Amino acid sequence: MLFGYLLFFLAALVSGAPTSSTGDLVNALSIGPISNITVDISLNSLINNVVDVSFTVANFIPAELTLDRIVVSAGVNNTQYASFDHTFSEPVVIPFFGHADSGMIENVPLTQGALASLEIVPLGYLDLLNTSMAATVSGQNGIPWNLTGLTQDDVSTTYQLTFANLKEDES
Ligand SMILES: *[C@@H]1O[C@H](CO)[C@@H](O)[C@H](O)[C@H]1NC(C)=O
Ligand SMILES: *[C@@H]1O[C@H](CO)[C@@H](O)[C@H](O)[C@H]1NC(C)=O
Ligand SMILES: *[C@@H]1O[C@H](CO)[C@@H](O)[C@H](O)[C@H]1NC(C)=O
Ligand SMILES: *[C@@H]1O[C@H](CO)[C@@H](O)[C@H](O)[C@H]1NC(C)=O
Repeated sequence: MLFGYLLFFLAALVSGAPTSSTGDLVNALSIGPISNITVDISLNSLINNVVDVSFTVANFIPAELTLDRIVVSAGVNNTQYASFDHTFSEPVVIPFFGHADSGMIENVPLTQGALASLEIVPLGYLDLLNTSMAATVSGQNGIPWNLTGLTQDDVSTTYQLTFANLKEDES
């Protein structure tokens, strides 16, 4: 099966197959490129209904992957609690079958507001309702590759209270 999907990816890349079919395949195989989400909740979160988010992103193809942009809708049970569309100022390079840290994505809006979102903190997971990625295979000048409509359930999520950040926010 591993070789089957690798061949599929290579064929899809070479033929420029519609991105949605690749997204569906990734979902069907439960590859789940995103793991280990960290959400930082600060005083600013309670005032402005935003959080800072970082996560680990895995590369499931046998070539270097450069992630330029990611669009995420996250929540629980089909209810969206957060969404963002982030273009990395410094594209994230993920080695061959490896993983990389997204870096901090700041000011992610909380769709349901901060107070309602506190309810899902004890669950310790998020469902990714719709993730799209714009990436490049084989280095920054390589083959453009966009994936849309990725879904993942129960992605382990750590919430950190960072009220110490108040000074930074005041600057
Ligand atoms: C999750 O991320 C944290 C902080 O970046 C890191 O220390 C930890 O090792 C990661 N855990 C996994 C399972 O990737
Ligand atoms: C999610 O849905 C399931 C089944 O409908 C329900 O048992 C569970 O309580 C829900 N969880 C949350 C956090 O809403
Ligand atoms: C892939 O996404 C990027 C950034 O969102 C966009 O500029 C580009 O046109 C997309 N390419 C394709 C083939 O859809
Ligand atoms: C997922 O997001 C993309 C754009 O980011 C959008 O075009 C698509 O319709 C969304 N799919 C669903 C099922 O919401």
